[in-house]
Parts: sequence; C-alpha cells; structure tokens
Amino acid sequence: MRSLITQGVKLLATGSAVPDLCITNQIISNIVDTSDEWIFDRTGIRERRIVSKGQSIIDLAVKAANKALIKAHLEPLDLDLIILATSTPNDLFGSASQLQLRLGALQAAAFDITAACSGFIIASVTAAQFIQNGTYSNVLVVGADVLSQWTNWSDRRTCILFGDGAGAAIFQATSVVNNNFLAFQLNTDGKQYNQLNISYKNTQQKQKVDFSDIGSFDSISMNGREVYKFAVSKIPQSIQFCLDSVHISIEKVDWLLLHQANIRILNAVAKRLMIPYAKVISNLSKYGNTSAASIPLALDEAIEEAKVSCGDLIVMSGFGAGLTWGTLILKWQD
Ligand code: ACO
Repeated sequence: MRSLITQGVKLLATGSAVPDLCITNQIISNIVDTSDEWIFDRTGIRERRIVSKGQSIIDLAVKAANKALIKAHLEPLDLDLIILATSTPNDLFGSASQLQLRLGALQAAAFDITAACSGFIIASVTAAQFIQNGTYSNVLVVGADVLSQWTNWSDRRTCILFGDGAGAAIFQATSVVNNNFLAFQLNTDGKQYNQLNISYKNTQQKQKVDFSDIGSFDSISMNGREVYKFAVSKIPQSIQFCLDSVHISIEKVDWLLLHQANIRILNAVAKRLMIPYAKVISNLSKYGNTSAASIPLALDEAIEEAKVSCGDLIVMSGFGAGLTWGTLILKWQD
C-alpha cells in the first residue's frame, strides 16, 4: 500500500498518568486462589494501578495529555485533532469529546478508536495519515483504558493481568525529508474475534416494546493460551515486514517496545527476532496490562528516564482483541 506524502511526521512529546491506588499480587491472592509467585512467574507482573471509585478514564487521559502538551510547548488550542484510543469509554458514543472539552482544545476534531491493546498503534497510524496527507499539523493521540471496571474479580485467569492508565503522544507535521514515521503495518483476523471479548448481553429487562431488547456488557473473557500463541507468531512477522519495507536491519533497532501483556511474550518475540533483551522496554511489573495505554505509558517512562535518546530507532507493536495487531517504526528526535 502506498500513499502520497505531502508532509513528514515527527513525534513531538509524550506524557502519561496512572491512578494512585496500587493493587499488589499479594492483595489479589486474598481475593482469588493465586499467589505472587504464580503471577510473577507466568506474567512478569508484580502490581497494577486501579482507578478509585469516582475517578474516570477522562481524568487519566487529561493528565497524560496535559503533560505532553507542556513538554511540546503547545497550547490546547494548537491541536487540530484528538484521537482517543480506548475500549473502556465512559460513554458508549465516545469519550474523546469530553477529553477535548477538559483540555480546552476547542479547535480540535475529536473521536475515539476502539481497538483494545492495538489501539495506540492504530490511532498513531491514523494520526500520521492526517498529517502526511497535509490535512493537519498537530495531532494528540491518547491511549487510555480502565479495564479494572470490566474485570471479573473472581476469575483468576484474567483479574491478575490488567491495570488502568493513560499515555499520550503529540505528533506534528515536519518537512518530508525529516519524516520520522518510517513504516507501519496493521492487521486484523476477524475469525478469532471470540478469543478475547467484552461482549454485549441482553439483560432480559422488560421494555415497553417487544421488538427491541436492552442490554449491558459482560466482563472480560479471554482464551489466554490462544492469544499468547497468536502474539508470539504474528508480531515477529509484522516487525520483520516493516523493517524490510524500509530496508532497515534488525541490528539497527535501538528499542523494541511491545504491548505490555506478558513478559514471556516480550521475551519470545525478542528471541525470535534476535533482538537482545537489553533493547526491550518493559514496565509490566509495575502496571500490568493497561491495554491501549501500555505502549505510550512505557514510551513516556523510557523517554523520561533518558533511556531513549535522540535519533534512536523504536519498533512498537500492539496486539490484542479483534484479533488485531500492528507495528510502527519511528525515529525519536527530541
Ligand atoms: N493463579 C494460579 N493458577 C492459575 C491462575 C492464577 N492466577 N490462572 C490460571 N491458573 C491455572 C489454570 O487453572 C491452569 O491449571 P490446570 O492446568 O490445573 O488447568 C494452569 O494455571 C495453567 O493455565 P494456563 O491458562 O495454561 O496458563 P498460562 O501459562 O497460559 O498463563 C496467561 C495464562 C498469563 C493468561 C497467559 O496465557 C497469557 O498471558 N496470555 C496472553 C494474554 C494476552 O496477551 N492478552 C493480550 C491482549 S489483552 C487485550 O487485548 C485487552
């Protein structure tokens, strides 16, 4: 697939936010039959952050976005577009408008993208299209999720995995020669949609009419083994495809930043690609799987810790419900 590029894209700044409430593996082992050892050995997770009652996804998204705006030296009114990647909006019609309002970014168009743990990658690629075709100059992408609100806290196979958080990235137009958004690939396998769901169910509530039902959403249901196998086989292929498309060898990759789902997935993908583990960015032990927030949250921390430096080549891949997966390759230039 080829598109006409009239402007380059630069990642200008990042920001992130997590709730204060910390739920350790020890606390979870008081709720379901599990242990810190089992969770850490099988997932690499030690603790996760959870929103408190009354705290919303928008609170986290606003905090992450404001941090990115400050670092980018931009005002909210400079934003042309806001894309909120989330599968846990506080309004089924979308939450991006609330983010736009709370930021005071009233010139910006705003919409949600629902793509679970691939959400940040898909939203970033979408942002890049709007910039590269010359439509917009400043686009804010926020990946935010509060899966704790959709977790069945009596299901030990899933409740150990997820945490809440938000990560923001501001992409800006630059000249074509300075384009830092080097390659991407997005994929979906709809045949496997039921491996990971939060599905709609009819609540059997009586309606005034009999031709329509009213429902609600279930809690997370996941076939962990299948999702695991899918990630470990598809992600290396996707990364290799992107690198080949721009003639970059594996050795030139400075950082591998995967969706933070399971440390064993991160290890297996790095091993298949022969990328040394020292190049793998991970904060999984502190936050668990924060879905659409996981990649920008880890990226922001790595930049803040000065791990990632100017000119570094970063390969990012997301994967999850859909099943969807996607990779993007960009150069960090602060
Ligand atoms: N504590 C103790 N034992 C447990 C727990 C637990 N929390 N959970 C499962 N077990 C038991 C099972 O009952 C099973 O016991 P059995 O053999 O007696 O039946 C045994 O441990 C092994 O279970 P598995 O499910 O095979 O464990 P596995 O090693 O596959 O680990 C896990 C499970 C961590 C979920 C793993 O499969 C995984 O990480 N999968 C990928 C998930 C993922 O990447 N999701 C990303 C997308 S998320 C999104 O899009 C929103």
